Amino acid sequence: MMKPLIAANWKMNPILQKEAKELFDSVKKGVRNITSAEVVICPPFVYLPLLKGSKLGAQNVSYEEKGAFTGEISAAMLKDLGVEYVIIGHSERRKYFGETDEIANKKIKKTVGAGLNIIFCIGETEEERSAGKKNEVLERQIKKGLDGIDLPAQAGNLNPPTGGISIAYEPVWAIGTGNNCSVQETKESVDYIRKFIAEDMRVLYGGSVKSENSGAYIKESGANGLLVGGASLSAEEFIKIVKSAE
Ligand code: PGA
Repeated sequence: MMKPLIAANWKMNPILQKEAKELFDSVKKGVRNITSAEVVICPPFVYLPLLKGSKLGAQNVSYEEKGAFTGEISAAMLKDLGVEYVIIGHSERRKYFGETDEIANKKIKKTVGAGLNIIFCIGETEEERSAGKKNEVLERQIKKGLDGIDLPAQAGNLNPPTGGISIAYEPVWAIGTGNNCSVQETKESVDYIRKFIAEDMRVLYGGSVKSENSGAYIKESGANGLLVGGASLSAEEFIKIVKSAE
């Protein structure tokens, strides 16, 4: 059985260092005795060096290695800071910052090369879903995003036995809307995604996860973890979510 991965995506929050440290410390304290789930906190880049004692992830990475790329942060820099995970291809990156499948693929290659684990986000929009194109979109995002990557090798390589690349299924219409995807529909998508990846890769669910619905995803949808946005900004709520995976 793979240990579920529960990842907090703080997005561009909180505004102050002090708040970031308080949130992090409260979460760390609340989950310190939990061994049944792997917990990863993904804060904004600037907080990464300040937060110690729990697994950290970054929310983005450059596909360049080093040099004259103003404003970029490389995978090697993150690795050197002790960061273990990177979120790539989040729908907000795709929607607001022009991140394409090709860009996600370049980022994944560089990040794998640096020895970091990846949470690769995919998911259909409401429009694509109503047009009956969900599976087509998921297949395209996985195939293009993971193009040229030796999946079985990666899955076992970095963080055995379940590390390497995890896929986060995040229907765009469910993100930040309170309208979480039903467990049944999530299960169908998780099963579909598994057709295209290695057996020991994790598939996570994300999209309006709260403590009231989190346990059901872990227990009934076939997902191996959760990517939690809004609800991860409350230590109490996030700790409950982690505990629901026990
Ligand atoms: P949400 O965000 O939990 O606020 O819906 C999830 C995500 O964007 O990763």
